[in-house]
Amino acid sequence: MEARIRTAVARDLPVLTALAQRTYAEAYGQDMTQVALEWHLNTHLSPQRMNQMLRRDTFLVAETDQMIGFVQFGEAGRADLTGTDTSGAEVRRLYVAAHAQNRGTGTLLLQAALDHPRIEAFAGVYVGVWHTNLGARRLYARFGFVQVGEKPYLDAEGASPGADLLLRRSRMRV
Ligand SMILES: CC(C)(COP(=O)(O)OP(=O)(O)OC[C@H]1O[C@@H](n2cnc3c(N)ncnc32)[C@H](O)[C@@H]1OP(=O)(O)O)[C@@H](O)C(=O)NCCC(=O)NCCS
Repeated sequence: MEARIRTAVARDLPVLTALAQRTYAEAYGQDMTQVALEWHLNTHLSPQRMNQMLRRDTFLVAETDQMIGFVQFGEAGRADLTGTDTSGAEVRRLYVAAHAQNRGTGTLLLQAALDHPRIEAFAGVYVGVWHTNLGARRLYARFGFVQVGEKPYLDAEGASPGADLLLRRSRMRV
C-alpha cells in the first residue's frame, strides 16, 4: 500500500513523538549505550522539544493504516550554510519505521519536502547525514545532493563519536 503524505498538525504530536523516538532507536540504538540513547531521546526528541520543533518547522508524515515515517524541514541555521550561501533550507530529519522501509516511502517523503514552498523558496537545501549511513547517502545522491562539508556530532560528554556529512542540493529550475 503506497503511503499518503500530509502535513502534521498539533494533534499529531503524541504519535509523531513516539515515531521519532522509535525510528531513532531503530536506526542508531544498537551503536549506542542505553544511557547515551536515552540522553539523546530525552534531549532532542522529548515531547516538549518535539512541540517546539512542530511550531518552528514543517513536518510531513507518511501514513498507511498508521504513521510510518516523517520528514522535518525549515530554514537552515547559520552553522549549516557554506561560505557562499547567506540563507537556505534544511531537511533536519527523515525517518521511516524499520518494518516499512524499502517500499518507496522515504523517496515519497523527500520528494514532497523538496517540492514544498518552504524549501522551494531557497536556492539551496542542506541535509546532514551520518557518515556510515550509506543507504541514506544513496537516497540523497539520487536527488542530486552533493557533499559540501562535515560537522561533528557531540554526545552528552561533548565528545564526537563521528561526523554528519553536510550535503547540499541546488534548486533545479528549467
Ligand atoms: C533513509 C530512509 C528514510 C529511507 O526510507 P525508505 O522508505 O526505506 O526509502 P525508499 O524505500 O524510498 O528507498 C530505499 C531503497 O528502497 C528502494 N525502493 C524505492 N522504492 C521502492 C519500491 N517501491 N519498492 C521496493 N524498493 C524500493 C530504493 O531503490 C532504495 O534502495 P537503495 O537506497 O538501497 O539503493 C530509511 O532507511 C530510514 O529511516 N533510515 C534510518 C534513518 C535515516 O538514516 N535517516 C536519514 C538520515 S536523517
